[in-house]
Amino acid sequence: MISVNENCFFLHTRHTTYAFCITKYGHPEHLYYGERLDEPDAAAAPLLALKRTAQVGSTIAYSQEDLNYSLDILPLEYSSAGCGDFRNSPIEALMPDGSYSCDFLYTGYKIMEGCHPMKTLPCATGTEDVAALCISLNDTRNEAELDLYYTVYEKTDVITRRCVLKNRSSSSILLRNLASMNLDLISQNFTMITFDGGWAKEAHIHKRRISYGITVNSSVTGSSSNRHNPGFFLAADGYTEQTGNVYGFNLIYSGNHQGLAELSGHDTVRVQLGINPHCFSFEVKPDEEFEAPEAVMTFSSRGLGGASRHFHSFINEHIVRGRWKKRPRPVLYNNWEACFFKFDEKKLLSLAKEAKGLGAELFVLDDGWFGSRDSDTSGLGDYDVNKKKLPGGLTGLASKINSMGMKFGLWFEPEMVNEDSRLYRTHPEYAVVIPGKKPNLGRNQLVLDLCNPEVRDYIVEHVGQILDSASISYVKWDMNRHITDAYSPCMKNQGEFYHRYICGLYEVLDRIFSPRPHILLESCSSGGNRFDLGMLCYSPQIWASDDTDPIERLKIQGGLSCLYPLSCIGAHVSASPHQQTLRSTQLSTRFNVAAFGCLGYELDLDNLTLAERREIKKQITFYKKYRMVFQYGTFYRLPSPKDNKVCWQCVSPDRKHSAAGFFQTLSGASEGPDVLMLSGLKRDISYTVSTKPQNLYIEQFGELTKHVLPVELNPNGLILHTANKYYTLTDCVEHYRGKGALIMAGIPLNNQFMGSYYNENTRLLGDCGSSLYIIEAEDA
Ligand code: GLA
Repeated sequence: MISVNENCFFLHTRHTTYAFCITKYGHPEHLYYGERLDEPDAAAAPLLALKRTAQVGSTIAYSQEDLNYSLDILPLEYSSAGCGDFRNSPIEALMPDGSYSCDFLYTGYKIMEGCHPMKTLPCATGTEDVAALCISLNDTRNEAELDLYYTVYEKTDVITRRCVLKNRSSSSILLRNLASMNLDLISQNFTMITFDGGWAKEAHIHKRRISYGITVNSSVTGSSSNRHNPGFFLAADGYTEQTGNVYGFNLIYSGNHQGLAELSGHDTVRVQLGINPHCFSFEVKPDEEFEAPEAVMTFSSRGLGGASRHFHSFINEHIVRGRWKKRPRPVLYNNWEACFFKFDEKKLLSLAKEAKGLGAELFVLDDGWFGSRDSDTSGLGDYDVNKKKLPGGLTGLASKINSMGMKFGLWFEPEMVNEDSRLYRTHPEYAVVIPGKKPNLGRNQLVLDLCNPEVRDYIVEHVGQILDSASISYVKWDMNRHITDAYSPCMKNQGEFYHRYICGLYEVLDRIFSPRPHILLESCSSGGNRFDLGMLCYSPQIWASDDTDPIERLKIQGGLSCLYPLSCIGAHVSASPHQQTLRSTQLSTRFNVAAFGCLGYELDLDNLTLAERREIKKQITFYKKYRMVFQYGTFYRLPSPKDNKVCWQCVSPDRKHSAAGFFQTLSGASEGPDVLMLSGLKRDISYTVSTKPQNLYIEQFGELTKHVLPVELNPNGLILHTANKYYTLTDCVEHYRGKGALIMAGIPLNNQFMGSYYNENTRLLGDCGSSLYIIEAEDA
């Protein structure tokens, strides 16, 4: 809901209020962002406003008529450059008069039902309980206008912000920075929480106390990057996962981004988010305009968990669109880790048969199906099917897979080209290179110039042809290198390259997938190198990481879960020892972690033992039963006072069904009690809590088997090895019941194995062990 009262604007969501007013000179002054204020009116403004009863030393007065009015001290909704605000400027533009100075003042506002779509970039969508406010500002020289858009997503407690600069002069404006949003908050001793890493270690949580000066979270790799996800939080002093004031920010953009928090000498914190000004300059010609991507904000007084849950419902409701919105995501099998580039139709069909038998619903053929693609040195850019590997082509393979009762999906990497490819030999000018400079390769490949309309047409046509040539229900769209040598002959001003590349990518995705709405798109970029809200506008799910080691995934999926719902996170079970970490983990833990996401399997199914096959079949059956709870339930990162434990929980919307994961990284000797601290249940109804039964493999106990088996067996001998393939033990199963309130008070669990005693009530977790608990309302 948006209300306006004498130049004061109040934006209300279910639990939050955002307020600003227009000062006597016409600057938009920020008043408040926090818990919902009931029915404030214009009288609230002087109360909420930062007082200006004295001049702050060493400031520049905006006008000699009011020496206390300095832009450097005012909390502003947007700021200008060169008028006395010396904090980081949200705008840097070479104006027609040759100066970098501008001063935008209020001219009016407009309120619109629903969201106001963007012309050049994807943005959030929605009509019901959605309203937009546009504040128009005009530069004092009448050379440019700046529109500030606020869209209020009432039910999901999110407000988005973006701005549009319009050139109203007769010469070009050269934009060097245009932040999507500027927000000045009074300091609450914030901690900035960011999600950083690299390949195979995406989205690890990092926390930094905001101190004087600027703390930056940014990417310059050409994509939103695995180094620093665009999303971040500012958490007030004393916050926890469950309590305290937390502000969340994210950007609907897949290119270079910059988010920052600047603590000023007067203890205001300036927050900005938008396109990274690094190597950016954009010429806005007379009567043209430039749209900054949409930024997303939320506030919760219920800690990091509360802010995360706002983002989750916002993304499920207003970012993900199309046929797959809020629909159960299929359990898939992907052949990549089983085969890499080495496969033929026989191998694929054998894997598919196994996958079907286990319960998979979708078979995905990954890299290596086209051109001369037998390694990552050749073939990218070409779309002819490798007939040696697939004599019946994709049509033949897809129809065989379909007739087994599974859907068929396919991998593409359309933004790239290998020098050793037909496309590069015919059209070297399609690749991104700087004339006269030898380009730098990444994974042996060059980037295709998506700024060039001819290249975009090539991709749309060829990917489209393949998609229409066979029954393809899913696409994995990969992008496996950072961008260097940024240059396109299609533009004069190379400062536009990175932004135009991303606009080109969005155009291509739109042209390919809008006419084919049945296709489920999963985006990927060497894992989670482009896990952002821009991609989620096209692909309902994203491959989180090439690292499927469950212990690493606790950090990766745990980090991503702060910003993105589980329905968006691709999570697979792969082989052990793991190919990136060499860590050995139980099949149960690999599944238990992957269940908190869109489940898939990616190991060589032909190598499974009978016992493993039986276990995977049960896992998939179980996941299908609870998949809506895992993918779309309310998600909680539960308190786990011990450093070696991670606990997660998903609760169905009616709060009758829930699943919780208890994960142990390294086991400790003779540890004290483990307490399961569940959340989100109804306090006054009765629930049962039971461990999901799972298997223990005899071999993992080595010589210890002598304590439980009637005969003593050599741990390295054939008998134990053979028995391990066929027989498993059942892990300890616990059962509890009680009212929601009692259960949420914390359940001390059965003892773990402590080296002194064992019976069927002993939890055998060890290193990397885990259990799932199922919580059901008794009247469900
Ligand atoms: C990237 C992806 C992997 C796989 C390979 C294929 O690394 O992240 O999942 O698709 O490419 O080359």
